Amino acid sequence: GGGPLIDPFGRRVDYLRVSVTDRCDLRCVYCMAERQNFLPRAQLLSLEELDRVCTAFIGLGTKRLRLTGGEPLVRKGFLDLVASLSRHLASGALQELTLTTNGTRLAEHAQDLARHGVRRINVSIDTLDPEAYRRITRGGELAKVLAGLEAARVAGIAIKINTVALKADNADELGDMVRWAHSRGMGLTLIETMPLGEIEADRTDQYLSLADVRAGFERHWTLTPMTQRTGGPARYVRVEETGGTLGFITPMSHTFCEACNRVRVTCTGDLFLCLGQDDKADLRSVLRAYPGDDAPLVDAIRDAIAIKPKGHDFRIDRPGAAPAVARPMSM
Ligand code: GTP
Ligand code: 5AD
Ligand code: SF4
Repeated sequence: GGGPLIDPFGRRVDYLRVSVTDRCDLRCVYCMAERQNFLPRAQLLSLEELDRVCTAFIGLGTKRLRLTGGEPLVRKGFLDLVASLSRHLASGALQELTLTTNGTRLAEHAQDLARHGVRRINVSIDTLDPEAYRRITRGGELAKVLAGLEAARVAGIAIKINTVALKADNADELGDMVRWAHSRGMGLTLIETMPLGEIEADRTDQYLSLADVRAGFERHWTLTPMTQRTGGPARYVRVEETGGTLGFITPMSHTFCEACNRVRVTCTGDLFLCLGQDDKADLRSVLRAYPGDDAPLVDAIRDAIAIKPKGHDFRIDRPGAAPAVARPMSM
């Protein structure tokens, strides 16, 4: 207890992202190395520990919780965690429980997710061409993901598509993807590739500026900025011609950190205060040192918020440069 989490820059932190696993059944070229090393299971927080961390944050005023990975649906027992956390929706303490998923296992799980109170999900799809999808994800099958979208739609879950803009792989297709999503009642958010983790490709070869993509859209579409900001990194516009919502996540060409409302916990229990910085607190040690008492955990979280950095300083202008942070997005 003791009031909401406010950082040194006056930003209120009420949005938590929790990665439940670093593993994934895909290997997207901008996210992972072809032979990505995964963590030994012993280092992971247990489902109970994940629940304790989320619950402590909710006690500290977290209103929106997003479960991520890796791919969250590959974590054993993931649906049990969602079921357990749904008690905070029932009590009204939590406003929203969401996940970010690659969608490969959504067809099996959409109904259960909806039953446990998940109303909205973000699904990553970077192309609608099955061959290109297989190449970008190193082996993924687009048809499975499309079946997952259909299952989510039937279950009444709202869908936002995440599309990383990639110079060589999907630059020509982005307008078609927006039309496709909007014609099916889904939002779509475009993301600039960010320098996280070691991958084989040089990110300067992948990077596509969304300022340019947006200018291209504006030659044939009317984009009306939406005032409603989620406090997240995306800037949203309404495409008048399609009636749908289009988001832009542009850490490279435009910074949004001044309104940041979030922190993130990795699957090993590190609380990272910013996606693009290394400042962190080790919550796993606290969880394990005090198995029956959450007061030290709450103190550790408060202390960490006091060192939340002002923002990232990502750059993708030096070919061959090391990533800004060594850990991959999947952490
Ligand atoms: P909502 O606003 O709740 O829909 O979620 P979101 O779009 O923030 O979450 P999602 O998991 O779909 O992430 C989309 C992209 O935004 C991913 O590439 C994230 O890594 C990126 N992202 C999320 N939060 C931050 C942040 O604080 N800083 C930066 N630079 N990128 C972020
Ligand atoms: N830069 C930008 N977005 C990334 N994602 C994964 N790695 C990166 C990166 N290096 C995206 C995924 C997913 C979202 C959670 O993050 O495509 O949609
Ligand atoms: Fe898996 Fe998402 Fe990374 Fe692709 S971007 S490898 S789906 S975690």
